[in-house]
Amino acid sequence: MMKPIKKLFQHPFVIAHRGASAYVPENTISAFEAAVKMKADMIELDIQLTSDGYWIVMHDLSLKRTCGLRKKVQSVTLGQIKTLDAGSWFSPQFAGEKVPTLEELLTWAKHKVRLNLEIKGRVKKNSPAIPSLLKTLSKHGMGKEIILSSFDWKILRQVRACDKKIALGLLVNRQPRYRYLREAIDLKAFSVNLPPHKLKKGVSEKIHRLKMVVWVYTLNSLPEVNQYLKMGIDGFFTNFPDLPVKKKILFSRSG
Ligand code: G3P
Repeated sequence: MMKPIKKLFQHPFVIAHRGASAYVPENTISAFEAAVKMKADMIELDIQLTSDGYWIVMHDLSLKRTCGLRKKVQSVTLGQIKTLDAGSWFSPQFAGEKVPTLEELLTWAKHKVRLNLEIKGRVKKNSPAIPSLLKTLSKHGMGKEIILSSFDWKILRQVRACDKKIALGLLVNRQPRYRYLREAIDLKAFSVNLPPHKLKKGVSEKIHRLKMVVWVYTLNSLPEVNQYLKMGIDGFFTNFPDLPVKKKILFSRSG
């Protein structure tokens, strides 16, 4: 059994961005396996809905870049998704990689690695897709090993309305500090996930005072990581989860 996210704090927290995506095609089970081998503390990946209501793992809204199909994920069925090759674009060595479903991902990940699921695409207001997502996580017994994040804060509000406890990561892009801090407080977020340009003086301290952690996306070199660690970040998303950072356990509570 893994320690729930809220009970463990390792510093810095290394989060494999779309798996070990510098080495293996992003958002595939092979990329996630590579991240586990590299001892990532967590894997970040993207989920979105197919036209027939299945959650699948994919970053872009269009299937063009990674699967060569000029269509939107939300306009095709799971059956069509399963015919696609998600590996050849990266290298012929990965030809035949499949797009995982959320169910397949959870079956693979159970008690092996923590996950940050970033919700992408359009989710209608009061959509049954959100309760169905939460039900799937709890069916796999992974509610405490998962953090849900999104740039679409309305989606996070839907999640919070359905589940008071699940860890949420507020993804910030251009919004001013007063707005994202207000939102993080309202959502009772676990983490605030910032782009590097938002890491101004005093930001980490302010977020820590709210008892939230600060994660930065996406840092791909050691000098960059060290620069932001000095600014008080707790963790970072990276395509290179094997970056040789020194880790220490800050706290690890049982129960
Ligand atoms: O979740 C952090 C980072 O992945 C956000 O950027 O473009 O990869 O969704 P993006």
